[in-house]
Amino acid sequence: MKNIEWSSLTFGYMATDYNVRCYYRNGKWGEIEVSSDEYLKLHMAATCLHYGQEAFEGLKAYRCPDGKVRVFRVEENAARLQNTSRGIVMPEVPTDLFVEMVKKVVRLNQEFIPPYESGASLYIRPLLIGTSAQVGVRPAEEYCFLIFVTPVGPYFKGGFCANPYVIVRDVDRAAPLGTGMYKVGGNYAASLRANRRAHEQGYASEFYLDAKEKKYVDECGAANFFGIKNNTYITPKSSSILPSITNKSLMTIAEDLGIKVERRPISEDELDSFEEAGACGTAAVISPISHLDDMTTGKVYNFGDKPGPWSTKLYETLRGIQYGTIEDKHGWTMVVIE
Ligand SMILES: Cc1ncc(COP(=O)(O)O)c(C=O)c1O
Repeated sequence: MKNIEWSSLTFGYMATDYNVRCYYRNGKWGEIEVSSDEYLKLHMAATCLHYGQEAFEGLKAYRCPDGKVRVFRVEENAARLQNTSRGIVMPEVPTDLFVEMVKKVVRLNQEFIPPYESGASLYIRPLLIGTSAQVGVRPAEEYCFLIFVTPVGPYFKGGFCANPYVIVRDVDRAAPLGTGMYKVGGNYAASLRANRRAHEQGYASEFYLDAKEKKYVDECGAANFFGIKNNTYITPKSSSILPSITNKSLMTIAEDLGIKVERRPISEDELDSFEEAGACGTAAVISPISHLDDMTTGKVYNFGDKPGPWSTKLYETLRGIQYGTIEDKHGWTMVVIE
């Protein structure tokens, strides 16, 4: 294992030894290539630079207490990238190719997979970009799919805890019929202004209502929202949010744990009635929301300064499955290194 101070890692970039790449030319995917170069040589008129033909994914590899290394629901990330590709007219990366490249890049960089005790993990970042030149607004003919990895620290440094969020009304990350359900860079560019302001004001993240009516809950920055009341896990149904794999997993776990699940529009008014609320995604699993401020109306929604009982149970169960300490009865994990 590399000599890295694992416990002081943050969610930042650290160079590793290898990345893997595959090129799409003449209507087909080529062979997987291994590279040690952190840079790409790109045509200055590449469509990813001008017209946003760029999509990415995010998942993690976990070094588990049994010594194995597991990745979580990798086929779901492949499927989401395929959906994103259809959304912005790029060729789909077949699931087999995606999975093979994930396995390869994790195995090649195994010395960078943090030890279990550190709470850190190996973040896996697949990236698909249009590389050939276009000046007119048109999809590229050629594409590069690459995956790099980087060790990242635990999301909660001082243990699982609740954080404040702020509702933004003057910035939309995505339009109702836009690209919100795809994982494309443009959505993140649109969110940067609100995200920076939220951080400057001391919030964990910005919180979006639906772009059209500003009446329904959409997303918590780069994470999905869920609320809990009356033994029910409730999460928004919206055309402009990213279908989170963590949220999908939590819905199944909630049912397994014996609580009801509802996926439906959540009006802002309803927030008052939730006993617990949280943001969910690969980075945090669950980031419980302590309070949510609506600066425009002055309203504050309080969910408690400590993680609630269901949020804690859901968090521990999902982490247990990811780390191989709780039975993976849905077959979500894949052992990459025995
Ligand atoms: C906008 C947005 N929503 C939700 C999520 C959570 O998705 P997942 O659980 O698949 O990481 C992410 C992170 O990938 C995201 O960027």
